[in-house]
Amino acid sequence: MTATLSSETMAIVKSTAPALQKYGLEITSRMYERLFVDPEMKALFDQAAQKSGEQPKRLAGAILAFAQNVDKLSVLRPAIESMAARHVETHIKPEHYPAVAAALLPAIRDVLGEAATDEVLAAWGEAYGFLADILIKREATLYAEEAEAAEDYAKV
Ligand code: HEM
Repeated sequence: MTATLSSETMAIVKSTAPALQKYGLEITSRMYERLFVDPEMKALFDQAAQKSGEQPKRLAGAILAFAQNVDKLSVLRPAIESMAARHVETHIKPEHYPAVAAALLPAIRDVLGEAATDEVLAAWGEAYGFLADILIKREATLYAEEAEAAEDYAKV
């Protein structure tokens, strides 16, 4: 997993922010279409009782905020905290992350077409891995805290 992003990658990701602002919702809607071809992935969202139409908007917002603030992650802390908490509530695990990358990157190409050059997609692939790594680590801590609390409860 990526420990840091190079300044080139950050510059490319930031340069895509205007396109994401314009087409973010289209990209995330397309991403879900691709992701939900896999019934196992779809079930994760069905179980979460997906709020009608809200989830693509939230994901688009999160991706845009990430593109805009990729060089100042402290701005993203509250958003990361909220995503990690929701992921733990909905039992998202590290092994689920690659499927989302495999749906998101082609969705970017589907919607942006030629503008999504190989360079842009490679930068986004790296950036996704970076954000996924942050979320996975935070979620691991939350799962561990949950398990610890359950153990304490069992002792009572
Ligand atoms: C870097 C990758 C990811 C980002 C940026 C992201 C972003 C988000 C955001 C912004 C929310 C809404 C949080 C809130 O309610 O405050 C969310 C919820 C959720 N995410 Fe993710 N996510 C990522 C990866 C994943 C993966 C890998 C899965 C599983 C395949 C997943 C499944 C879910 C589910 C089931 C919810 C709850 C939906 C609901 O509220 O009904 N996410 N995610």
